[in-house]
Amino acid sequence: EKVVLAYSGGLDTTVIIPWLKENYNYDVICCCIDCGQKEELEGLRERARLSGASKVYIENVIDEFCEDYIVPCVQANAIYENKYLLGTSMARPVIAKKLVEIARKEHASAICHGATGKGNDQIRFELGIKALAPDLKIIAAWRDKKWNMDSREAEIEYCKQHNVFLPFEVAESYSRDRNLWHISHEGLDLECPENEPNYDKLLVLTTPPTKAPDTPEYVTMTFEKGIPISINGKEMKISKIIEKLNELGGKHGIGIIDIVENRVVGMKSRGVYETPGGTILMEAHQQLEELILDRETYHAKKEMADKFAELVYEGKWFSPLREAIQAFIESTQEYVTGEVKFKLYKGSIIKAGTSSPYSLYNESLASFTTGDLFDHHDADGFITLFGLSTKVRAMKLMEASKE
Ligand code: ARG
Ligand code: SIN
Repeated sequence: EKVVLAYSGGLDTTVIIPWLKENYNYDVICCCIDCGQKEELEGLRERARLSGASKVYIENVIDEFCEDYIVPCVQANAIYENKYLLGTSMARPVIAKKLVEIARKEHASAICHGATGKGNDQIRFELGIKALAPDLKIIAAWRDKKWNMDSREAEIEYCKQHNVFLPFEVAESYSRDRNLWHISHEGLDLECPENEPNYDKLLVLTTPPTKAPDTPEYVTMTFEKGIPISINGKEMKISKIIEKLNELGGKHGIGIIDIVENRVVGMKSRGVYETPGGTILMEAHQQLEELILDRETYHAKKEMADKFAELVYEGKWFSPLREAIQAFIESTQEYVTGEVKFKLYKGSIIKAGTSSPYSLYNESLASFTTGDLFDHHDADGFITLFGLSTKVRAMKLMEASKE
């Protein structure tokens, strides 16, 4: 029998290979779903082989991740608890989808992952798999009765006992998750919210804002129907745009957040996230929507954004509600076309002009000095009616206080 293992190349998922063989007697097919984790992929194939995998898949899904997961989140302005741009959350469903595809192709009977029982990722992987392949068995190694390793030392020792000799570091490291959109850092000193993070040691994609260049840098982006099309005048596919923005944002210290968030499983957890390119992209998109969306749509969309973010965070990507909200969002993007210019400077995104052929901003209407579309007297009747209930109540209170 075969099992498909969600493989990252790290110690935690490497030790699962011999463990699955020993405890379940499975053929282990390692699958690394590449959403843009870069250096983490180095030497991954050999490591999986040396640890006993019978087959290794490395699937590059970066473009699919961009088009089908990142773009909807950008269009929705999906942000969890006011800060988190959902970098890990939005990658889990595409990973689940690919694991299922490979499991089908290989006629595997189970999928195994190495997420802990305390986190959100287990929920996202398992809800994704359940939604797409309800018949497949799921093995959550860390929650399994046969799992008895609780430290890196124990895992390294287990590897050695099973003739897997790999140069893993014994030292504890941050729990990190990287893809094209972001990198997350959790654990160690961050676990105490009183501690100031040491940005010099922690940050991977971003220069600490205090050490960013003294000269600001301009960046221009264009969008068509809510989809990013070009950067600094060059048309590129979305993944290249995000890569370029990561480079620029990283250089100027953009997109670092430090949050205590509410996990689905009940506890609060503290994390630092770097989303340099994503932060710029989302800000640019919002900037355009400010000009283009009418007031009611803008407000309704804002409410939907919170719900959308919550669904993505809690692993309900493959759900009717996510699809329905996405359809609503998509219909609001019809005219979100135009150009946004920013200046990047020491962690700040400074607005440098926005334009759109569909802008609803009307200078003659908005201006205090000019305009013939608007007659000031029209406001008389409007305010009389708009303020009527306020006035009626105030009159009543005044009357009552005299009695
Ligand atoms: N707390 C974030 C989230 O729930 C990040 C999780 C990072 N995952 C990881 N395996 N290190 O989306
Ligand atoms: C984990 O527990 O595996 C990582 C953190 C999370 O999923 O929230």
